[in-house]
Amino acid sequence: MTSTLFTGISELRTVSDLGTLSDAALVVEDGRIAWVGKAADAPAADSVEDLGERAVLPGWVDSHSHMIFDGDRSAEFEARMSGGDYAAGGIAVTMEATRSASAEKLEELLLERIAAAHAGGTTSLETKTGYGLDVESETQAAQIASKHIGDVTFLGAHLVPPGADAEEYTELVVGPMLESVRPHVQWIDVFCERGAFTEEQSRRVLEAGKAAGLGVRVHGNQLGEGPGVQLAVDLGAASVDHVNFLSDEDVAVLAGSDTVATVLPACDLSTRMPLAPARRLLDAGAHVAIASNLNPGTSYTSSMNYCVTTAVLQQHLSLDEAIAAATVGGARALRRQDVGNGLDAQGRPAKGSLVVGAAADLHVLDTANAIDLAYRPGMPLTWRTWVGGQLVYSA
Ligand code: NIG
Repeated sequence: MTSTLFTGISELRTVSDLGTLSDAALVVEDGRIAWVGKAADAPAADSVEDLGERAVLPGWVDSHSHMIFDGDRSAEFEARMSGGDYAAGGIAVTMEATRSASAEKLEELLLERIAAAHAGGTTSLETKTGYGLDVESETQAAQIASKHIGDVTFLGAHLVPPGADAEEYTELVVGPMLESVRPHVQWIDVFCERGAFTEEQSRRVLEAGKAAGLGVRVHGNQLGEGPGVQLAVDLGAASVDHVNFLSDEDVAVLAGSDTVATVLPACDLSTRMPLAPARRLLDAGAHVAIASNLNPGTSYTSSMNYCVTTAVLQQHLSLDEAIAAATVGGARALRRQDVGNGLDAQGRPAKGSLVVGAAADLHVLDTANAIDLAYRPGMPLTWRTWVGGQLVYSA
């Protein structure tokens, strides 16, 4: 077991009760944080990594992405930017391209996307199936994802494939498809929205997943007010994602629950939807996460820096709130947050905060002040990224 002392930290945002420390240091041992404090008090270690007076945050925890796909929908995007609307039907275009791609190609694309996420300071990812929409392709997507990502979500209920009957397809999802993907996934999700799955179909899908031992997540209230939020809370979902259109009752229900409201600012901008009411949710006392929603239809970016910038500049979060939502908020949405001693509820190293015992997932900015994420929007601020103590990106 070797230890490394990280020093030269102008600002250490622990995203914990320790708050933000100036002139800080931390020690990493065996992939986990072993010590955090002022540089002047730091213990000796086997090696030293001088970060040159840069700001350090926990790596971003991106709790919502769709990374397994092939194909291009830039023409659909361009048409939308010329005044068209977003509709769920575009998912079928990606389904065709994904079904046609080889497993090798899909894996290669996934690895490129993971590398790009690391280059943006992301250290933990969730990703979903949902562009296969038949037993074979959904299973292949889940298998590929699970080789590289710890939190994989079964989203067979993303769209009823063209030509299929909604009821028959829902039965396929809760039966043979769920059984086939089950060994490769931890979560189940459903697109509960007009043009996708009804409340009743969504409940059936989520209950089947729960009965199979999966955690529950929901795509809800993206295109209009609807039952998604209340269904998610009712079923004890870890998160309900999008949440653009919320009634006062939806907000109150979320505030009284453990279900995280995950906002997806890059998606809102790319679909020209009203930005999700993150400020209103936080003021009401709800748990909020920020995620990228990387996908080819509504959010073709994994840049969490961009999402955090948007949350500050346009959703009126303070920098502290936005960083917390994109780190410990995402960790909570994946049930990986610190519940004491740096561990999560299952005794694994926690994600999203830099406390003793937690995963040594570090995002080092090429600046002394993290406020530059919003003050200098769009600048290349990610300097280095470590996952579990391993350097995965260096500018
Ligand atoms: O999260 N909302 C549903 N699923 C994706 C969009 C997928 C697509 O259009 O390809 C989303 O925005």
